[in-house]
Amino acid sequence: MGHMGGHAHAAPPQGPQPLPGIAHIVAVGSGKGGVGKTTLAVNLAIALARLGHRVGLVDADIYGPNVPLMMGATRQPRVLDNNAIEPLEAHGIKLISVGSISPGDKPLVMRGPMLHQIIRQFLQQVTWGELDFLIVDLPPGTGDVVISLVQTVPLTGAVVISTPSDVALQDARKALEMFHQVKVDVLGMVENMSHFECPHCHKAIDIFSQGGTERTARQFNLPFLGAIALDPEIRFGGDRGLPVALAGEHSEQAKSFYQIARAVAARAQQRAATDTNVLEIS
Ligand SMILES: Nc1ncnc2c1ncn2[C@@H]1O[C@H](COP(=O)(O)OP(=O)(O)OP(=O)(O)O)[C@@H](O)[C@H]1O
Ligand SMILES: [Mg+2]
Repeated sequence: MGHMGGHAHAAPPQGPQPLPGIAHIVAVGSGKGGVGKTTLAVNLAIALARLGHRVGLVDADIYGPNVPLMMGATRQPRVLDNNAIEPLEAHGIKLISVGSISPGDKPLVMRGPMLHQIIRQFLQQVTWGELDFLIVDLPPGTGDVVISLVQTVPLTGAVVISTPSDVALQDARKALEMFHQVKVDVLGMVENMSHFECPHCHKAIDIFSQGGTERTARQFNLPFLGAIALDPEIRFGGDRGLPVALAGEHSEQAKSFYQIARAVAARAQQRAATDTNVLEIS
């Protein structure tokens, strides 16, 4: 390498590098906090796995990692001799989270460069093996984590989730704009807490309004991937580490997640096909 002069000391190749063996990287984002990103990420991961895909899950919410609790993953990941990190496994999903490395209630206090380093390690140093989908659960907002992510790997796309309230949709539009700015394709939008069926009179109650996410998707010319009802079982499943998607496609609570999973898989494969076309043309 010496004869190559400056190149011997040149920085490693810049720009996002695909992860060998991983077909699709799909991020779940929202803009607003607490609208169900992690709930969607874990149930989407499980639904995709039950539909026959090999799935990994990155908890990119460094400050508020909820994936281990929602997946019932209590172990700590093993660091191998070569500094590679072995992912945890729960419900057939490989996963990694800061919450497994530093469990408990103590927050991680970090500067930007450390955060970037962790995102890089989670993607590049974890022994993911062969995956059809790597789902990335994003933190709320439009901040640093997304920048680190897009600088590290090419994403197939993002799924933007919102409740139908105007407040959540205002933030969802910001998230759409952010993904546009960093050139991440939005695969579609999901409405969460779309309606609530009263257990007593069985009437639908629109606690956060209804239909706004589909309208927003239409305005932005994006596919609407599905609506998830507000349902205590969904919350309960998350709290005990047994997400409702485990009940299978025909369960009332789980079926919307399977519908969304099928739509995400179709969109991702469509995207991959158009990417190839672009490469062939240019
Ligand atoms: N459809 C639903 N029905 C009932 N509870 C839900 C539903 N979706 C999410 N929840 C509950 O609402 C709470 C917030 O959801 P979740 O943690 O998935 O949101 P988030 O967008 O990831 O939040 P954060 O921005 O803090 O990361 C959780 O307790 C979760 O179980
Ligand atoms: Mg979350």
